[in-house]
Amino acid sequence: MKKHNFNPGPAIIPTSVLEEAAQGLLEYQGSGLSFAEMSHRAPQVMAVVEEASSLVKTLYGLGDQYEVIWMQGGASAQLAIAPMNLLDEEHSVALINTGYWAIKAIKAASEIGRVSVLASSEQSRFDHIPKSWTLPTDAKYLHLISNETIDGNQWQKYPDVSVPIVADMTSDFLTRPLPIEKFGLIFASAQKNFGIAGCTCVVINKDWLNTRKKRAIPTIFDYQTHIETQSLYHTAPTFPIYVACLALRWTLAQGGLEEMARRNAEKATLLYHEIDANPLFEGSVQAADRSTLNACFRITRPELEEVFLNFAAQHDVVGIKGFPTVGGFRASMYNALPLESVQVLVDLMRYFAQHH
Ligand SMILES: Cc1ncc(COP(=O)(O)O)c(C=O)c1O
Repeated sequence: MKKHNFNPGPAIIPTSVLEEAAQGLLEYQGSGLSFAEMSHRAPQVMAVVEEASSLVKTLYGLGDQYEVIWMQGGASAQLAIAPMNLLDEEHSVALINTGYWAIKAIKAASEIGRVSVLASSEQSRFDHIPKSWTLPTDAKYLHLISNETIDGNQWQKYPDVSVPIVADMTSDFLTRPLPIEKFGLIFASAQKNFGIAGCTCVVINKDWLNTRKKRAIPTIFDYQTHIETQSLYHTAPTFPIYVACLALRWTLAQGGLEEMARRNAEKATLLYHEIDANPLFEGSVQAADRSTLNACFRITRPELEEVFLNFAAQHDVVGIKGFPTVGGFRASMYNALPLESVQVLVDLMRYFAQHH
C-alpha cells in the first residue's frame, strides 16, 4: 500500500505519471530503447522537451514574450544565475527576508552584486511576510520567494511594484493561476509539483531580458544560450524533463491551474481548520500569510512531538517532521497529494488529542 506522502520534496507524484514514466524507462513507445537511452537530440526527445515547454505556456496562458527553458543545478543554481544575468553594476536586487530560501537568495545575489534587504520577519521566526517597505530607486528587480517551503509562509497576493518580480516558485509552481505580467522571471525545481529531481523550469520575459545591460558571464549560464538552443545547448536532463512533461499533461487533464488552486485551498483549509481548533496543535505562521502547500505547525506539549510522529508513521503518514531549523511539523500538500491523505492526518490529530 502506498503511504500518505507529505514529503517536502522530492515529493508525491501522481500514480498514473509514475506508471507511464516506468514504462518509458523500460521502453519508449515501441522504439526498442528506454527514453533514458536516447540521444537528447533524438526527434522523440526533442518533441518531449518542446511539449513540456508548451504545456507550461498553455497552463499559465503565457504570451509570445515569455520563453520556457529547462536547466540543471536546481533552484539553488538559479539563485546565482538570475542575478548573473539580470543585475548590472548600477543597480541592486531588492529582497525581503521571508525565511530560509530568502536568506540563501540574499547570500547568492551578494556574491554577484549589490543587494538591498527591504524588510525581514526573522525576529518573529518568519511567522509573516513583511508588507511595509519601500523599493529603492536603484532596484533592478524584486526577488521574492513565492512560497517559503521550510518556514511555511506564502505570498497570497504579489506586491505591486514598479520593477519586474523575479520569483523562486520552487514549491508553488503550477499550483494556482498567476498575474503573469508582474513577473520578469520565474524558476522552479521539478521535484515538488511537477516531477522528479534533476530539472529546473525557467520562465523568462525575453522582452525584459533583451533590455539588460549585459555583463560578462559564462556562456553556459546565460539564459540567452538556452533560449536560442531550445534547452539543448548541452545534454539536457532528458528523463526528468520527460517525467515533467507527463506531470504537466496530468495537470492540464485534471483541469489546469484553477482546479489545482481549488484542490490546494480545500486541502489547506481542512488542515488549518484542525490546527486552529485542536488545543494540542498550533500554527507557526499568521493566518493571512500561511502557505497552502507547506503547513507548518507545532504541538503545545513538546514532549509529545516524537510520540505523534511515530503514531502518524504507524498509520502510514510520512514526511511531516519539520525542518531542523524550524522544528515541529510540516505537512507538504503539493498538487498530487489527494484530499483523503489530509483527512487521514486530520483524523489522526483529533484521535491523538483525545487520547492525550
Ligand atoms: C523555495 C525553494 N527554493 C530553492 C530550493 C532549492 O532547490 P534545489 O534543491 O532543487 O536546488 C528549494 C528546495 O527545496 C526551495 O524549496
